[in-house]
Amino acid sequence: MPDGHPDHSFPDAQREAVYRVIAERRDVRQGFRPDPVPADVLRRVLAAAHQAPSVGLSQPWDFVVITDRARREQIAALARGHRDQFAAGLPGARARAFDRLKIESILDTPLNIVVTCDRTRGGRHTLGRHVQPQTADFSSVLAVANLWLAARAEGLGVGWVSFFDERELAAHLGLPEHVEVIAYLCLGYVTGFASEPELATAGWARRRPVSWAVHAEEFGRRGLPGEEPVDPLADVIAAIAPPDAAAMTAAAERQDRMTKPRGSLGVLEEVSVRLAGLAGACPAPLPEPACVAVFAADHGVHAQGVTPWPQEVTAQMVANFLAGGAVVNAFAAQAGAEVTVVDVGVAGSLEPVPGLLPRKIAPGTADFTQGPAMTREQATAALTVGLEIARDLVAAGNRCLVTGDMGIANTTASAALICAFTGADPAEATGRGTGIDAATYARKVDVVCRGLARHRPDPADPVGVLAAFGGFEHAALAGFILGAAALRVPVILDGVISGAAALAAAALAPDVTAACFAGHRSVEPGHALALDHLGLSPLVDLGLRLGEGTGALLALPLIQSAARALRDVATFDSAGVTEK
Ligand SMILES: Cc1cc2nc3c(=O)[nH]c(=O)nc-3n(C[C@H](O)[C@H](O)[C@H](O)COP(=O)(O)O)c2cc1C
Repeated sequence: MPDGHPDHSFPDAQREAVYRVIAERRDVRQGFRPDPVPADVLRRVLAAAHQAPSVGLSQPWDFVVITDRARREQIAALARGHRDQFAAGLPGARARAFDRLKIESILDTPLNIVVTCDRTRGGRHTLGRHVQPQTADFSSVLAVANLWLAARAEGLGVGWVSFFDERELAAHLGLPEHVEVIAYLCLGYVTGFASEPELATAGWARRRPVSWAVHAEEFGRRGLPGEEPVDPLADVIAAIAPPDAAAMTAAAERQDRMTKPRGSLGVLEEVSVRLAGLAGACPAPLPEPACVAVFAADHGVHAQGVTPWPQEVTAQMVANFLAGGAVVNAFAAQAGAEVTVVDVGVAGSLEPVPGLLPRKIAPGTADFTQGPAMTREQATAALTVGLEIARDLVAAGNRCLVTGDMGIANTTASAALICAFTGADPAEATGRGTGIDAATYARKVDVVCRGLARHRPDPADPVGVLAAFGGFEHAALAGFILGAAALRVPVILDGVISGAAALAAAALAPDVTAACFAGHRSVEPGHALALDHLGLSPLVDLGLRLGEGTGALLALPLIQSAARALRDVATFDSAGVTEK
């Protein structure tokens, strides 16, 4: 009883029951029993739904209860059409995983309930709906939540199916024009309730920890009440640990017992051992599905004439990635990977479209020959963007992250970063980027020299080095690499831009390299310097100098094959093959 006030909380057992029903509610798609749901049980569940809060007490919901088999068969056919369409648009690894998922139980359950919303109910003065018409929909969703929880308490499973064109379904149900479908629910008694979301068990997605979702006072200041505020960058750095030696030993021993001559898989044996060390398990989980994140940003140093390409090309190529027309899209499609584009600092605004993550820190960095490319705060913000994207992509079920970049003039910033972190001479670290003439090349080397002379970078202060030279994509990529390493998910590095970013990441957390796989060696001379400094050997060396994530994507099947061989290949003892 706080401060002598009456205690209105429920008795312990009842309070626990409330939390229990919340924790044990599941979206159920399999294991339905055909027995009918008694009318009194159904009435209780519907009455619970009908007690939901609603905007202005407008109670915009209605419930259409469907049991007729023929009607459900028609509706199931609609859902199948959209399911197939969705599956057709998935990257290869996701499509294979999706095939194994059950997403609807329209016919396996004895009854379906459609929850609708009437946005006009109550007239124009409905309190609260005036400014936000969508609050009517929110209210109907709360009715769904009540229904779902009450059903769980009754031992009834509920599966929500949203593979519908809303108007097409509305027409099938005879809904008036002004009434919309909010949820299509399949209900029935079940053989059991899973303890985890089925999508989590299937590896499709993972739960995000609650501490990632709670912010103190303003967005971005994450932390649970009563606990220290979370500093995502410090947390991620603290979570990065060396590889697991026991898992590496087990993997190396298994390689020696596999039905092949010892060492005959060359570098791929080492890759499999490193994957096991990172995962802390032998064999390591297969690094799929994979997602390439292409971090795009512009550079103030472009003004120094270091490239013949106009700055607008950054935004134009972002549009091309999103339309699926770039080399990264072709290589990702071939490798079965997803492409995500991150606007972390493109000059100019980009249309919001699916596949684009709008995370702009600023519309391009400042010219590093004139002053720092960004502030320390901006560098930290970009690092945080990158690590949060890594976390989100892993929570979305990815088991391998791939780095990509786009930013006209970013090989100049990369050369400066590589010099700052490795101590290399600008003449050695600077390359010809997309292809430049002798005069432009000389200017580019001079720009890097002037930048280094101006900022006198201290490699022991990686955030300061990133702030000095930029770009936003380098800082975000460094955060992305750190985020992957903290979650012990492999990250395949692309070319010189990723290499420069990895140097920053390694300066912040040296053990980050355990998670890094060098996809390829770029033609840019600074890339080899960066890889040497990181102690990484490139998997392919094909004379590429494109960026976008292309070189890393070519290495993806090699890394996946290495993991699969360690997992699937028989050993001499198991296969009964005689050893030499
Ligand atoms: C708005 C909404 C729409 C959903 N649509 C589908 C769907 O079309 N197919 C499906 O299999 N699950 C669907 N689900 C179920 C979610 O996948 C499920 O709630 C999530 O994986 C968490 O699992 P849990 O509900 O068991 O905790 C939907 C859930 C919500 C909230």
